[in-house]
Amino acid sequence: MSKDKVLIFDTTLRDGEQVPGCQLNTVEKIEVAKALEALGVDVIEAGFPISSPGDFNSVVEISKAVNNPTICALTRAVKKDIEVAADALKYAKHPRIHTGIGTSHYHIVYKLKSNEEEIIERAIEAVKYAKSFVEDVEFYAEDAGRSDNVYLARVIEAVIAAGATVVNIPDTTGYCIPEEYGRKIKFLKENVKNIDKAIISTHCHNDLGMATANTLAGIMNGARQAEVTINGIGERAGNTSLEEIAMILQCRKDVNLTTGINSKKIMGTSKMVSRLMRMPVQANKAIVGRNAFAHSSGIHQDGVLKNRENYEIIDPQDVGINESSIILTARSGRAALKHRLDNLGFTLSKEELDDVYDKFLNYADKKKDIQDDDLLIILGEEKRSHDKNLVLKHLQVICGKQTIPTATLTISYNGKDYTESEKGVGPVDAAMNAVRKIIKEKVKLEEYLVQAITRGSDDMGKVHIEIEYNGVHYFGFGANYDVVTASVEAFLDAVSKCLKAN
Ligand code: KIV
Ligand code: ZN
Repeated sequence: MSKDKVLIFDTTLRDGEQVPGCQLNTVEKIEVAKALEALGVDVIEAGFPISSPGDFNSVVEISKAVNNPTICALTRAVKKDIEVAADALKYAKHPRIHTGIGTSHYHIVYKLKSNEEEIIERAIEAVKYAKSFVEDVEFYAEDAGRSDNVYLARVIEAVIAAGATVVNIPDTTGYCIPEEYGRKIKFLKENVKNIDKAIISTHCHNDLGMATANTLAGIMNGARQAEVTINGIGERAGNTSLEEIAMILQCRKDVNLTTGINSKKIMGTSKMVSRLMRMPVQANKAIVGRNAFAHSSGIHQDGVLKNRENYEIIDPQDVGINESSIILTARSGRAALKHRLDNLGFTLSKEELDDVYDKFLNYADKKKDIQDDDLLIILGEEKRSHDKNLVLKHLQVICGKQTIPTATLTISYNGKDYTESEKGVGPVDAAMNAVRKIIKEKVKLEEYLVQAITRGSDDMGKVHIEIEYNGVHYFGFGANYDVVTASVEAFLDAVSKCLKAN
């Protein structure tokens, strides 16, 4: 029996990008959109065009850059939003407008200060107006998770009659439990007369950690589109993660559903999104976490060596983890490096590859073998080094037991060198104090996070930093074998963005 296909609607660039600190520029968004296309998603929600000129422009450029997936733009049920979205989608080969309005008691009464009948009228009007620009119109019933099912069914029937091709049933607040969300979808299937004229879509948030379970309940009860993000990023606790839904359907053949996702590209895409959005993936995250396929106990290691399936339900190679294939060391050539970069989803020109290769040899001299995470850092450094206005040229720290931690550093700021020394409670604090002395601005450090990338004492440290200046937050990232250097580089990355903006 052939399997039913569940369409994958990726909203990493819209719901995912709403997360503070995860904002991408248009070039980075195009990079992600192309990776999503290669991954095999059916729909890319590219942005909310009325929200900012940057978002508008990103929808335009993604529409030009991407060929196969449908490109979707979000709107409220407001005429101006719909006109702007239609304009942003003018180059899309397969455009879709995603419009909608709140349908729960909370939204109708407290947010929209309206009533049930008026909301239905506004929903119909928005869908009809969107339909005058594009054929493919998706309607979202915001807070459907907490909406009354009988009323929700009336709204859905009305918008399908008005021309909606897809009806999205968001659990906006992540409140539902799986049995309840599944029942909601079943209720719509059984009680909306024209439901066969539209695709039902799930859109679940993870506030109670149930986004994936709810999405699965939705599709097992008849939804045929799942709205998801890479690594599950998104508002608050995030959205349903793409990799979890794709791998559940691939792994559990008995569910009898399939997707168009090329699972071998999952890991590369996950790392790209994490790197560009400066959003680390938690080590124990299902499918893409650093420990998702690591067996640490002796019993498990022994079991896996006897037969991988004793403890693994997914072959790591199926999600693009190919650890044993080629080990990159200082003796590896450009071809091996290129092969690994291709696997990670990066296609570099000959000149770019030469630059990255030089940097790679430098790292490989210091570290026995270079892992995918190291390569991503090398690539990130390569990109960032072209647009820095603050560069750390020299850093020396004195620290240890019974010593006053002191840092001396030289920073090049817009081409001129500045050198300062300062003390602190530790080497990182001393180095940051020296930077503050040079920049003479009162920036407040709001968040400082150090993470090891792989394992071992020759590991590289990744540092994420958030600073605050005049009420605005800026984010920075640094990576180095020396965590003090990584910390200063992350700090400079954030300060540099702050100085550019002020
Ligand atoms: O969570 C939600 O309700 C949304 C809609 C705008 C689709 O993101
Ligand atoms: Zn959402």
